[in-house]
Amino acid sequence: MPDTVHVLNGPNLNLLGTREPEVYGHATLGDVENACRAACERHGLELVFRQTNHEGELVGFLQEARGSLGVALNAAAYTHTSVAVADAIKAVGLNVVEVHLSNVFAREAFRHHSYVSSVALGVICGLGIDGYRLAIDALAARRVS
Ligand code: DQA
Repeated sequence: MPDTVHVLNGPNLNLLGTREPEVYGHATLGDVENACRAACERHGLELVFRQTNHEGELVGFLQEARGSLGVALNAAAYTHTSVAVADAIKAVGLNVVEVHLSNVFAREAFRHHSYVSSVALGVICGLGIDGYRLAIDALAARRVS
């Protein structure tokens, strides 16, 4: 468990590859998973990779990550709306790196506020699929051996 990283994805990220490719690129969620698996293998870490379109399920996934090294979280639209997701992050007390494929600060004003950022270890946005790898690198760097 302490050698496991959870990569959790929120709503509509199952549509990556076909969803607004001019914003999110052409990589599919499978491509994201493969990149995360390769990053975890480099660090000798196990990967749990999940996606949900439901807020409560995302809260459940965060609770199930308890005892792990940490979480790379792209909460997608729930980033901007969900007190429940922020509370879950606080409740589990894990290192959580907030990830967004797009640069949310270069987009609509409603994407500039995040309930996740204030309870996250750090935030990565605008670097596309690389953001997930960088989040895993950051979590791995905090592993105590
Ligand atoms: C996103 C940005 C969010 O604003 C949006 O709702 C998403 C994806 C991103 O990865 O860039 O669904 O989290």
